[in-house]
Amino acid sequence: MNKRKITLQLIGCVVTVLLSACNDSVITPSLMDEPRIIAHRGANEWYNESTIPAYKMAAEDGVDSLEMDLRMTKDGELVVMHDETLNRTTNGRGKVSDYTLAELKKLKTIECREEKIIFEGIPTLKEILETFQDKEKYYIETRLVDEKLLMEEKLISLLNEYKLIENQLVTIQSFSEKSLMKIKRLAPHVELALLFRKGSFSLTKAETADFPIIGIESSDVTHKIVETLHNQGKEVHVFFYDKKTQKAEQERVKKFGVDGYFTDYIHFTKKILAI
Ligand code: G3P
Ligand code: CA
Repeated sequence: MNKRKITLQLIGCVVTVLLSACNDSVITPSLMDEPRIIAHRGANEWYNESTIPAYKMAAEDGVDSLEMDLRMTKDGELVVMHDETLNRTTNGRGKVSDYTLAELKKLKTIECREEKIIFEGIPTLKEILETFQDKEKYYIETRLVDEKLLMEEKLISLLNEYKLIENQLVTIQSFSEKSLMKIKRLAPHVELALLFRKGSFSLTKAETADFPIIGIESSDVTHKIVETLHNQGKEVHVFFYDKKTQKAEQERVKKFGVDGYFTDYIHFTKKILAI
């Protein structure tokens, strides 16, 4: 190989390396005019997660939507709680699905803040909807109930009672594609988001699944993934499992133009997005 050919090949390699480096740091716009700020379990930075006061604080802060997880009681009522069991957040023990609503209402969520213990009731979904009606948007996560698809009918019936689907005030999210497919049959026009667990993201699955929003844990989010899904017209919403790295991660994924932040730090997210 002559000297000139080697030099040209070297220049080619350097240009390729530089271009790929730039590609990773380039700032890409999101699909939306403004990314969505989704209050993860309400304003959990300041008050007991998934409680009515926490959602009121988030609403007062002007977030785009209130994120909540559903669980079903033994007698078929929907309550807003993240965990399958009462152990971490309440003064009860055991699975939510082993309690009737009347029994759950005797329990309290508990958090210790600044050496004060705060007790707050466990809300039903109906109580949340009654509180905010059509003044807020809801980003609701379905779960399996003892491995079964049991909550979808009740959820859609409640949302219809408050006319929230027809007024485009709801997004339903789930790690269960089966749950989302069932929701689609019951309410074809509701906006749906398919979530992927940390470490289980599949770009092929996200591209082929027929849902307009893809939810990804931040450590799995790359520029290429966001760009590929944007090219398909799909929004990318990011959630964060590690509160210690969440702020740095929000700044990192902002550069990729992600479209939604399930934030535990509402003021911080508003600040970095200049909203
Ligand atoms: O709903 C997005 C995010 O909340 C999923 O994770 O475990 O906080 O419900 P998790
Ligand atoms: Ca959730």
